[in-house]
Amino acid sequence: MEAKLPENLPAHLGIIMDGNGRWAKKRGLPRSAGHAAGAANFKKLTRYCASIGIRYLTVYAFSTENWARPAEEVSALLVLFRQYLEEALRDFREDDIVVRFIGDTSAFPKKLQELIAETWEVSKDRKGMVLNIAMNYGGRAELVHAFQALARQVKEGALSPEEITEGLISGSLYTAGQPDPDLIIRPSGEHRTSNFLLWQSAYAEYVIMDILWPDFTPDDLNAALWEYANRSRRFGGV
Ligand code: IPE
Ligand code: IPE
Ligand code: MG
Repeated sequence: MEAKLPENLPAHLGIIMDGNGRWAKKRGLPRSAGHAAGAANFKKLTRYCASIGIRYLTVYAFSTENWARPAEEVSALLVLFRQYLEEALRDFREDDIVVRFIGDTSAFPKKLQELIAETWEVSKDRKGMVLNIAMNYGGRAELVHAFQALARQVKEGALSPEEITEGLISGSLYTAGQPDPDLIIRPSGEHRTSNFLLWQSAYAEYVIMDILWPDFTPDDLNAALWEYANRSRRFGGV
């Protein structure tokens, strides 16, 4: 019998949690109901990833472009984030999960920012999986933020332009110190990055699946992990 999981798991897995709106529409429900179902699934899949030994998990929860949605949908999402972070504070403790946030979280309401800071504070010394929640995250915005920080150092004379290397840029991103993602899964069937981990995904394997995020199960994840394990990663070599 085939093992449930391959031996060669990605050290860093990215998931673009997409398809909540279509999931709701199919059921004649408001989009916010899809986001609630998606948030519940986020919790379930995160705990599953920790249980199988994924070391870094980055989930795309809200992009810099998602502010363009109707105000009603954005506020429903903000309410959900608050609720789920409160739950995560309790639940992820049992799984020893470190919870970090990537993106410009200063744009969120103060209460949510406090919760974000608290979630990081109580989890930062844990030893288990690192969960990066990408909120108000955009790959381009992240690069702008990093280049501005480097430009400031050059202006102050602390850095010369020649000292700007790939490693220094990687170390100036929100994911500093973490390995690049090995595998990025996009449920919902869309074939695009939508501004997710642009720099870090240079050699990530992509698995696109025709399943809407709220329907995505641990078995679907296992299938993506098998597909990844059977890929030949050459990094430009032969
Ligand atoms: C992903 O689901 C959640 C967020 C972007 C916040 P969508 O809301 O994009 O769902 P679809 O793509 O419209 O189905
Ligand atoms: C990407 O999904 C962002 C998140 C899942 C948070 P979108 O639904 O925003 O992406 P597009 O608009 O289909 O490219
Ligand atoms: Mg979408």
